[in-house]
Formats: sequence, structure tokens, C-alpha cells
Amino acid sequence: MGVEAGLQKASAPAKCILFGEHAVVYGEPAVAVALEQRLHVQLRPSKTWSVGGSQLQAKRHPHIAALKAALLEDSTPPMSIQINSDIPRASGLGSSAALSTAVARAFATLSHQETVTNEALSMLAHQAEAQAQGGLASPLDTSTSTEGGVVVLSDTKENSCTWLYTRRLATPSGERVWEVHSLDLKRDDGIYLVLGNTGVHAPTSAQVALVAAALEESPERMQEIKAIGTVSRRGLDALQRGDYTAVGHAMSENHVLLRNLGVSSLELEDLIRAALPTSLGVKLTGAGGGGCMVALTRHPKETAEAIELAGGRTFVSRIGNAGAHAD
Ligand code: MEV
Repeated sequence: MGVEAGLQKASAPAKCILFGEHAVVYGEPAVAVALEQRLHVQLRPSKTWSVGGSQLQAKRHPHIAALKAALLEDSTPPMSIQINSDIPRASGLGSSAALSTAVARAFATLSHQETVTNEALSMLAHQAEAQAQGGLASPLDTSTSTEGGVVVLSDTKENSCTWLYTRRLATPSGERVWEVHSLDLKRDDGIYLVLGNTGVHAPTSAQVALVAAALEESPERMQEIKAIGTVSRRGLDALQRGDYTAVGHAMSENHVLLRNLGVSSLELEDLIRAALPTSLGVKLTGAGGGGCMVALTRHPKETAEAIELAGGRTFVSRIGNAGAHAD
């Protein structure tokens, strides 16, 4: 409860995928981390339901409308929802997942379901995300934003990680199953992520559809998806050993595979090239086509300057931060 009567607040982090975007939609392993940048929501009692001053409409706010239907009674008194975010939208950093998980946490508090588990909340957020993504979405973004830290998805239970839950989704091409895990990192205080934003908006749904169309046209390209899975596994192993040089190599290798898959862009390539000399590894992160790249570096200032000189907007984060919570 906030100081003001009836005020509810919650926040959730951005996420950055270190390994396995796109391939994770087809069950390959992937690793994502929660960033320091967060999205904050505030709910205030009001005469009507609104988001950022405009009337709440399912068409304009599909995630929020879906979560309201799932978590609140029809008789819940209306609230105005204010969103404040450090996370750039449509840029591969999970702004819509952060919105879903923060709103889900705030709605759970509003309806006195404070004890509702992360598993249940991330499931609702994943369903809302999948609906908005035309039925195809892995639970990577929503689980990372809910759980925080480092999250690993795989089609099998990974013994080296802490298993959290199984997530299933009916998709247009059959049921998909993911095992969701968390990973305890070996601390290395000298390691940073520098995110570089191209400023080009590329909706995830379009990028996911692009890969689905490529696979439908040439089913043999599933080999490329499997190759990303192999690199993810190598990257995960390096992360567990705390070998950040090997983590960086795997990230750069992952990027080459993503570029060949057709999800990079000229703007991303410019920023990636600029960051390489001062980084351990660099790749696009998220759905690609624009949005952000990520550099793993021990020289965050130099790397950020190089990316800015190449035209990107940057921010720096450590690896693994708090998940969604009521504020
Ligand atoms: C988007 O952040 C990550 C993708 O793998 C899509 C998904 O996992 O649903 C491109």
C-alpha cells in the first residue's frame, strides 16, 4: 500500500537476451538477464478505467485488458493507470513484458491476491504477450521480468540450473513446452552490459513472423535454429563457469547466426562493429530488425562512447537485477 489511500505501485525490469532469441520460440535453450532499467506503474482510484489519461480499450491496451479480465472482478472500482518507464519501447528489451508483469503484480495486490505466485503471474503475462504476438511467443521475456536475475529456458530440465516451472502454450503450429530455470551467477564486479539502441522500432510480432515464414518456405533452415541452440548451451556453460571471455565469444557467434537468419539490420551492424574493439562479445538482443544490440565489456565507458559515436543511444547495466515487485 502506498501513502495515498488506494494507491498501488509496482515495477518490473527490462530484460536482455544473452543467447537464443528466436530459436527459443522453437524450444531451443535461451538465457536472459534482468536489467537495472525498470518500468513503474501506479494505480489510483478514479471515475473510469484509464491508461496514461486515455480510456482503457482492449484494442489499444491488449496486455492490460487481458490481465484485468484474468485478475480482477467486474465489480472492482475503476482505477487510472500511470506508466513511467526507463525502458525504450519496441527495442528488444522487453518493455511489453515489463508492462504485463508490473500490471499483473499491481492488479494482484489490488485484488488482495498478494500471495499469488510468480509462476501464476508470469503465466498470465505470457498469455497476454502471446495473444499480442499472434499466438507465437516464448515465456522468456515475461519469466525474466517476473523472476529477475538470470533466467534459462530449455526444452528439458537443466540439472545445472534451478528449475522453476514448466510452461506450455498452444500455438498455431502445435503445443510448445518450455522448462523455466533460474541461474545463480558467479559474481564478477568488473563485468557490464552496454545496450545500444538504434532508435529503429521493430515490433517483435513482425520479426517472429518473418522467421516463421522463412522456416515454412525452407524447412531445412531449422538447422540454423538448432545451431543457435548449440551456441546458447555453450554460452550458458561459460556463464556458469564465470568465464566471461568465453561468454563473449558465444555472444558474437550467436550474432552471426542471427544475422544469417535475416533478423539484423544495417543500423544494428553499425553499432555492433563500433562496440567490438572494446568488448568481450557483441550481438543484437531481442527480436532484431532494429531495436538494441548488447555488448559484454570490462570497459563500459569506452564501449558506450564508441556506440554513441556510431549513432546509438546507450545505457549500462550490471547482469541480473530484481524481478517484478510491488513498490
Ligand atoms: C523477443 O524478446 C524474443 C523472441 O525470441 C520472441 C520470443 O521469445 O517470444 C524474438
